[in-house]
Amino acid sequence: MAVFREVFLVLLLTAAAVVSKPNIVYVLTDDQDVKLGSLDALPVLKSLMTDQGLYFDNAFVTTPVCCPSRSSILTGKYTHNHHTYENTVERGCDAPSWRTLNENKTMGPYMSMAGYKTGFFGKYLNNYGEPGSGVDLSHIPPGWTRWFTLQGNSKYYNYSVSNQGVKESHGDNYTLDYFTDVIKAEAVKFIEESSDSPIFMYIATPAPHRPATPAPQYESRFVGQVAPRSPSYNFDSKDKHWIISEGTPVMTKEVIGLVDELYEMRLETLLSVQDLLEAVVGALEAIIWDSSNNRGKRDSPMRRISVFHLLCVVRG
Ligand SMILES: *[C@@H]1O[C@H](CO)[C@@H](O)[C@H](O)[C@H]1NC(C)=O
Ligand SMILES: *[C@@H]1O[C@H](CO)[C@@H](O)[C@H](O)[C@H]1NC(C)=O
Ligand SMILES: *[C@@H]1O[C@H](CO)[C@@H](O)[C@H](O)[C@H]1NC(C)=O
Repeated sequence: MAVFREVFLVLLLTAAAVVSKPNIVYVLTDDQDVKLGSLDALPVLKSLMTDQGLYFDNAFVTTPVCCPSRSSILTGKYTHNHHTYENTVERGCDAPSWRTLNENKTMGPYMSMAGYKTGFFGKYLNNYGEPGSGVDLSHIPPGWTRWFTLQGNSKYYNYSVSNQGVKESHGDNYTLDYFTDVIKAEAVKFIEESSDSPIFMYIATPAPHRPATPAPQYESRFVGQVAPRSPSYNFDSKDKHWIISEGTPVMTKEVIGLVDELYEMRLETLLSVQDLLEAVVGALEAIIWDSSNNRGKRDSPMRRISVFHLLCVVRG
């Protein structure tokens, strides 16, 4: 199967409020890749953020795998310290050990202790609320005042969330259920209802991760856009180290078609992320943005030793 190099994008927004503490909003997209041109789908990123802040040209993550990286983002710890090694409960992802070791030492509790009203919106850890994790959706990790969190891994429709510890199930009616828009509405509501205290928000969209289901109005916005044919595109790496050569067989015509289709859909899902950003920015006064990256290819020991380049922008 083709390997689509996958990267997260993280945004950090702060509003310079009139109160002494600035509001801080951290936005994390799932699997967004800077090098594949995904920023072209987000022109407001430039106008709202980069043009008015900082662009970090050399930002990196240490463990480019979904749950380990999320655990590092939340705790500030390396993988060998937070003990989330893979995306499975067995390998630490939202496992009981996460709760005893880390869960009350994430951004949420610390920001709460620092006097912030905290809110979590979107994807937490890949197994949150799943059978096997040891907790269900009634579990709200310590330190979060508002908890609106996806059960399990990335979805756009037909998902459940923990809405303040109560399971809320969604179907596939765009108006009611499209997850990026649902997060947007909840995040804006939180900002509007929190004018009396400084806020810290963590907003994490499943977009543009697979299944990469675009909103209906954006469905054919990037028709014909194909994955960049860079020098490394579909490179025959048979003569390379086994880690590379065994993991990346040359793609068939059919796989190339699937990759290009996924590429288009991923960009289209980012148009809803752009809507979310505009709405959140509109609800705040000023912003910091940071972006991060994430994951290399699956099933390769490479990911354990890789450091991946990421995008980082800050506006204050
Ligand atoms: C975190 O949880 C552990 C285990 O329940 C507890 O001993 C510790 O006091 C907690 N720390 C904070 C800061 O809440
Ligand atoms: C959502 O679930 C329903 C019922 O199982 C199914 O018919 C529908 O195709 C699903 N929608 C999506 C977008 O997956
Ligand atoms: C989706 O929900 C909206 C708002 O409740 C409703 O007006 C619309 O009829 C629903 N669409 C479908 C296909 O059920």
